[in-house]
Amino acid sequence: MFYLPLFHRLQGAQCLVIGGGQTALRKLRWLVRAGAQITVIAPDIDPGIKRMRDAGQLIIERRPFYPEAVHAGLRLVISATNAPQVSESVFARALENGVLVNCVDRTELCTIIFPAIIDRFPILVAVSSMGQSPTLSRSVRGWIETRLPQGLGRLAELAGRLRFEVKKALPNVDARKGFWDTVFSSPAATKAMRGKVDEAVRDAQQMLARQQAGGEIVLVGAGPGDPDLITLRGLRAIQSADVLMYDKLVHPSLLDYARRDVELVDVGKQGPREEAGAKGWGSASHPSGGPRPSGTHMQVAINARIVDEAKQGKKVVRLKGGDPFIFGRGGEEMLAAAEQGFCVEVIPGITAGMAAASSSGVPLTHRHVSQSVRFLTGHRVAQAQNFEWSDWARDDQTLVIYMALVSLEAIQERLLAAGKSPDTPAILIENATLESQREVFASLSGLAQSVAEAGVSGPSIIIVGQAVEVAEQARLLLRNAAEQPTQTA
Ligand SMILES: C[S@@+](CC[C@H](N)C(=O)[O-])C[C@H]1O[C@@H](n2cnc3c(N)ncnc32)[C@H](O)[C@@H]1O
Repeated sequence: MFYLPLFHRLQGAQCLVIGGGQTALRKLRWLVRAGAQITVIAPDIDPGIKRMRDAGQLIIERRPFYPEAVHAGLRLVISATNAPQVSESVFARALENGVLVNCVDRTELCTIIFPAIIDRFPILVAVSSMGQSPTLSRSVRGWIETRLPQGLGRLAELAGRLRFEVKKALPNVDARKGFWDTVFSSPAATKAMRGKVDEAVRDAQQMLARQQAGGEIVLVGAGPGDPDLITLRGLRAIQSADVLMYDKLVHPSLLDYARRDVELVDVGKQGPREEAGAKGWGSASHPSGGPRPSGTHMQVAINARIVDEAKQGKKVVRLKGGDPFIFGRGGEEMLAAAEQGFCVEVIPGITAGMAAASSSGVPLTHRHVSQSVRFLTGHRVAQAQNFEWSDWARDDQTLVIYMALVSLEAIQERLLAAGKSPDTPAILIENATLESQREVFASLSGLAQSVAEAGVSGPSIIIVGQAVEVAEQARLLLRNAAEQPTQTA
């Protein structure tokens, strides 16, 4: 059965509820909220319903159900009793009289069903399983609840206050839609949701003035791989983008959140390992059909494209793997935009190094073992002469090395030459946070060989330091615990 979701106006409408228990009480709360004129019929009445009666919100007839109670003057009747024959009679009478009817837990006796409701008045979200599984609907409601900010209703207030001003300033429907999408994912929205609606209105007015003059640029950290690890603000930015420029390491399913009319631009660069045949999990070729351009040339083109699109009044969302400012050239993009007068919003992401550590059980600053963490890039390390290798070789820290595969042997040799112990524990984490995540544990002196033997080809992080041993210890403890015979009382 397919039920069409509609929102019903019950202000002043006569509604009847049969039953006086907790189930009836739950339905009554919504009817009262909707301003219905309510009668409750039941021999026994819950104290909560009595309080509603005392507050003048409904009237009570303390008696068993009688069929004449359902008449054509009613808009809605709800049967919330345990007596099956009562529900059957209510349903039959309601049909005869053209009254909407809901018999709780008897889908076959309903012309309307109640959804699970997420209430952020005036925003209401209704979830239904078409009567198949109210429990599942409630679970889905829970999932959505966590995604919708508590102050969401205040956004509606913000929109209401600016509605006519925006209509006048932006006669074009698409431009208005773009403007509101932008406002709803901006710091102004956050302010409104925290109750600072006046301030939010002023911010939105400034954004309106800016939109009339030009566009907007947002750098968004997409997180390390698993699409669930993006921030809520990042997700909202994707949803409001006119142009979405994304990297090779951005999970493809994040693009599904964008508007249908979004302009998608794949700006994945060709790194040193890809030239040697390795792949990320994004699309492998450039939309031009040719090979991906490498580093600097592509970056200059990306910077120019971001600014050009923004100059046309569009909202440009630059979606970058991990965090935009960790080995991500986000700083260059911000500077290029600032040079052209655009203030860039930067939404942080979980960087691959931290995600790889957490998801493989390496506590980067484990007490007594590591006082600091260094994020390093192995890119071009073999040719570089000016690294402070002795500094890197210090014992009381953890090294987190990005893009280390190409230069792994050189990194290993130089760390050893700088005095790092050959026994220092190390781990390589490939495809961190994805289902395909793989780990290779080794001592520093055997790392390059173990990695080569494992045939690693996906994006990888290498972590070197005593903190790695903690992950190994935890695994050992878990194995031992699993092997213990079950304790009996
Ligand atoms: C150009 S850097 C971008 C880093 C990104 N801005 C960040 O904050 O994670 C790309 C490198 O990050 C690392 N990387 C990115 N995602 C990864 C993942 N899911 N697992 C392991 N390493 C990853 C790899 O070393 C890869 O070569």
